[in-house]
Amino acid sequence: MRYAVLGAAGQLGRDLCPRLPGEVVPLGRTGAPAVDLSRPESLHALFEEVRPDVVVNCAAYNFVDRAESEPQEAFAVNTWGVRELARLCRERDCQLVHFSTDYVFGLDQSRRQPWTESDAPGPISVYGLSKLAGEYLVRALCPRHLVIRTCGLYGVWGSGGKGGNFVETMLRLAGQGKPLRVVNDQTCTPSYTVDVAETTLALLNAGRPGLYHVTNSGSCTWYELARTIFELCGIHADLTPIPSCDYPTPARRPAYSVLDHAGLRSLGIASPRPWREALAAYLRERSQKT
Ligand SMILES: NC(=O)c1ccc[n+]([C@@H]2O[C@H](COP(=O)([O-])OP(=O)(O)OC[C@H]3O[C@@H](n4cnc5c(N)ncnc54)[C@H](OP(=O)(O)O)[C@@H]3O)[C@@H](O)[C@H]2O)c1
Repeated sequence: MRYAVLGAAGQLGRDLCPRLPGEVVPLGRTGAPAVDLSRPESLHALFEEVRPDVVVNCAAYNFVDRAESEPQEAFAVNTWGVRELARLCRERDCQLVHFSTDYVFGLDQSRRQPWTESDAPGPISVYGLSKLAGEYLVRALCPRHLVIRTCGLYGVWGSGGKGGNFVETMLRLAGQGKPLRVVNDQTCTPSYTVDVAETTLALLNAGRPGLYHVTNSGSCTWYELARTIFELCGIHADLTPIPSCDYPTPARRPAYSVLDHAGLRSLGIASPRPWREALAAYLRERSQKT
């Protein structure tokens, strides 16, 4: 079995590649073949030269705020590039594993109950909309698909595209002695890329195409996450909870985007561990790495 992994140098890609059971061809925008989702013609080389059995797409345009002012760039990668990928996978009878986001939700601002795979999405940002359109195209065009929505990713490799993640940003700012004001009215589930990678593997083994939610278990706000990071690291930080209206950003974000794991349960696959345990494991691993 040969796996071609797009976005292999991103934080999820870095944790997924070593866990895939077979020959793994990590792909990026540089290297040979160079694969750039915003240049759909570059995808043809992937199929000609790599001849994969499974394509895993960890690549995305992930700049949530910047997407508001450059929607064409976000859609080029997250929607139209993904459409071509899905089309080519169907043509070559390849399986396609594609990652999406909790930001496909948010329109129902009163919701306080985890979203299941069968709930109707409603994005409130260009990024969320571009990812939702990408999901739909994968599901419509490529029968052998796994579409996996995840949330609040952090991994020891740091975000490839954004050059960091929330945990690292909090630790860096606290290390600089800066006062931190963190939003306390957006609830989601921070998720460790190792756990998402391992559950992705379980889904691949189960061999049942479809849409699945994969996050750690439980939920918290970004403020609660920051507080827990400092607590687990024994750091005293000057941390204040604030409402989102005190931290205006170009993109709107869901007030509540916790994802239910009904799909995993239907296959008898265990939900990834609680987010706090996963965070503690991440902090241990990063302290060994640095
Ligand atoms: N990060 C989160 O909190 C989060 C939350 C929910 C869902 N997700 C989804 O989870 C998946 C993995 O996210 P991640 O955090 O691992 O991302 P990441 O660390 O930012 O990595 C993204 C990867 O995509 C590549 N990429 C960007 N534009 C590309 C293009 N035009 N063509 C080909 N590759 C391109 C980047 O390559 P370069 O190294 O060349 O820049 C990078 O390797 C994505 O689908 C994302 O939407 C992420």
